[in-house]
Amino acid sequence: MTRFSLNGRDVEVSVPEGMPPLWVLRDELGMTGTKYGCGIAQCGACTVHLDGEAVRSCQIPAETLDGSKVVTIEGLGTPEALHPVQQAWIDKQVAQCGYCQSGQIMQAADLLKRNPNPGDQQIDDSMSGNLCRCGTYPRIREAIRAAASGDRSGPKLEEQEV
Ligand code: FES
Ligand code: FES
Repeated sequence: MTRFSLNGRDVEVSVPEGMPPLWVLRDELGMTGTKYGCGIAQCGACTVHLDGEAVRSCQIPAETLDGSKVVTIEGLGTPEALHPVQQAWIDKQVAQCGYCQSGQIMQAADLLKRNPNPGDQQIDDSMSGNLCRCGTYPRIREAIRAAASGDRSGPKLEEQEV
């Protein structure tokens, strides 16, 4: 049995040998907000937070889940208290088809946790591994700037845990 914290809740799951965490989260635990894009750590659609850091859940070893703290898009904020990045994403109407967006948001939240006021180059460097076939990159940058600067609805960045 593999035991870990998922979105603040203790879970216990039997992980088939060799199953990447992406499928444990989606198929075994129903967290389908995390998406499968490439399966080879090249697109970022499967990004979740593992012990506070953005990781590609399609490629990390399944054993890393045991004893860890995992946050998926479902646990980043709540409908009543959106994460600042989620609020900025809505304000700036970032999503197009939406498929890549949970990974984008998880990566952006990780960036702002490490650097609450990133410059454009730092935004581009941090987000370069998250691909969007719809080309929403300009709005992604705009939303990250808005999340950082407070030019959005909701509480200021420093008032919420990111
Ligand atoms: S599905 Fe994991 S990086 Fe593409
Ligand atoms: S919004 Fe469609 S792939 Fe990014």
